[in-house]
Amino acid sequence: FFQAVASPPSSNFLLLGPSGAGKTAFATLLEAKSSLASNKSHDTHTSQQSTLVTVTLPPTVPTGSNRYRSVNDPSLKEAVRNPIKYRVRDTPGHGKLRASQGIAELQAMSQSKDIKTRLRGVVFMVDTAALVDEATLRDTATYLHDVLLFLQKRAKNGSSSKRTTDISVLVAANKQDLFTALPPGAVREKLEAEIDRIRKSKTKGLLDASADTELEDEEEILGNDEQEAFSFKLLEHEVGVKVDVVGGAVKGDLQEEFGSGVRRWEEWVGMCL
Ligand code: GTP
Ligand code: MG
Repeated sequence: FFQAVASPPSSNFLLLGPSGAGKTAFATLLEAKSSLASNKSHDTHTSQQSTLVTVTLPPTVPTGSNRYRSVNDPSLKEAVRNPIKYRVRDTPGHGKLRASQGIAELQAMSQSKDIKTRLRGVVFMVDTAALVDEATLRDTATYLHDVLLFLQKRAKNGSSSKRTTDISVLVAANKQDLFTALPPGAVREKLEAEIDRIRKSKTKGLLDASADTELEDEEEILGNDEQEAFSFKLLEHEVGVKVDVVGGAVKGDLQEEFGSGVRRWEEWVGMCL
C-alpha cells in the first residue's frame, strides 16, 4: 500500500460569485477528484456559511513555476508522488451574505501575513445561462465590480518597497453544458459593459455629491479613466489586476471540448502556483 507524502498546502483560493452559480458544486467536485473517492455528484443547496476544502492539483496540470512539464518530464513522476495541494474557500453568494462573508473573506485573506492563509487568486463563478436576464446580469456585475474595486485599492495601497503579492481573478464561465449558455467571449463583453454602466452611474453620483463633500478614498472609481469604456484589459494596464474569463462546466459532459469540464480552471490555478 502506497501513501503519497504530500507537502502541506500553502496556496489559497477564494470562490466568489452570485447564488446558484455553482461554487459549492465546483468545490465538491474538486474534493471528490482529490480524494479518489467515487466521483458521484452530491446535491448542493444554497450555502449560508463559508467552507474550506483542501484539494489536489492533477499532476498533469502545469504550474507557473514548472510551465513545460511534459509526459516524459521526470518532474511529472515527482508530481504524481508528491501532488500539489491547495485550498479553496467556498462562500455563500446570496446578496445579503456578501458583505459579511464573501467580501469579508476577501479582505481578511488578502491582508493575511501568514503564508498559510495568504490569497493567491479569486475564482468568480458565473452562471452563463442566467446572464441573459437583466437583473441577474446587474447583480453579477455589481458583485464583480465590488471585488475588483477592492483589489484595485489593495494594488494601489501596496507600497513599492514592500510589494504585495498579486491576486489574479478568474471569471469561471460555468454551465457551458447548457445550450442556453453564453460563450465566454460574450460573458466577458456583457460583464464589461455592465460594469462600465455601474461605474458611470457611480461617477455621476459622485459629481452630483461633490458640490458639498470631499471625495473620500472609498469612493474611488474602478479602472481610473472615466472617459474610456471599462474593460478587463484596461484594468490590467492601469491597475495591474489581471482578469481572465474561461468557460467550463461543473456538471454535464464536456469531455470532448474541455477534456474535463473544469480542466481549464485547474490550469489557471496551476499558473498561479
Ligand atoms: P450559493 O451557495 O447559493 O451561493 O450557490 P452556489 O454558487 O454554491 O451554487 P451551487 O453549487 O449550489 O449550484 C447551484 C445549482 O447549479 C445546483 O443545482 C448545481 O447542480 C447546478 N450546477 C452547478 N454547476 C453546473 C453546471 O456546470 N451545469 C449545470 N447544468 N448545472 C450546474
Ligand atoms: Mg454554495
